[in-house]
Amino acid sequence: MALVSATQMLKDARDGKYAVGAFNTNNLEWTIAILQSAQEMNAPVMIQTSMGAAKYMGGYKVCKAIVTNLIESLGITVPVALHLDHGDYKAALECIEVGYTSVMFDGSHLPFEENLEKAADVVAKAHAKGVSVESEVGSIGGEEDGIIGTGELADPIECKKIADLGIDFLAAGIGNIHGAYPADWAGLSFSTLKEINEITAGIPLVLHGGTGIPEEQIKKAIALGVAKINVNTECQWAFAEATRTYVESGKDKIGKGFDPRQLLGPGTAAIKAVVKEKIEWFGSSNKA
Ligand code: 13P
Repeated sequence: MALVSATQMLKDARDGKYAVGAFNTNNLEWTIAILQSAQEMNAPVMIQTSMGAAKYMGGYKVCKAIVTNLIESLGITVPVALHLDHGDYKAALECIEVGYTSVMFDGSHLPFEENLEKAADVVAKAHAKGVSVESEVGSIGGEEDGIIGTGELADPIECKKIADLGIDFLAAGIGNIHGAYPADWAGLSFSTLKEINEITAGIPLVLHGGTGIPEEQIKKAIALGVAKINVNTECQWAFAEATRTYVESGKDKIGKGFDPRQLLGPGTAAIKAVVKEKIEWFGSSNKA
């Protein structure tokens, strides 16, 4: 199946009260693990690259080629959207040109008027090519590829203004954080989410920082309009842990255990386990 934009996928998720998992990829193993997991769960999926991960993988064109060719060679039939995660203006335009089917323009660190202006321009250019657009209001806490936020709560009025530009889905800070949540984390602000959901009237909402959010909070967020949930760090932890166990147990020293096709196997399987568990939690299995 060819790559699809995320617009219909997320409208269906919102209407059906589930969320599509948006998993960050970092390399070939990651990409295979995400695609196979979605296929095995019969779930629509978003596979996303940060600007840094795309650079690491050889550029946006390479990412697009890897994903499209794997869809074909692995026989993937579930809907897949290739999305730019936390893109700046330049990256968003480049991804639209290269053939990503979805882009996030993250202008949350810009003065609000500039965020609005640039988002409007990205929407016009993206929609002309059938590409879906995510925007962000109120920076997400933690650190993502050098973009550091403080975990603020988004202003619902600003959310409404940006939603009215015709973006397809909206990321809004509701106390969520990229990476590990601190032990004293207050949890998601459901009152803020409720307010944003009411004022933006039906636009699918995006929850960043999916790593470490307890299942009940995930489910409550979905009930309040969240239709896309981003997960990155948890896959990285699982990959690192499984790879460490393999090496520490000396398996790389037995036979051809040093061969990357063996060495990276447990880590890849660990990513699959995380992706499948999240798909289950998000309610998107058998929604392809
Ligand atoms: P985590 O790394 O916390 O899962 O967040 C991922 C994310 O939100 C990517 O934009």
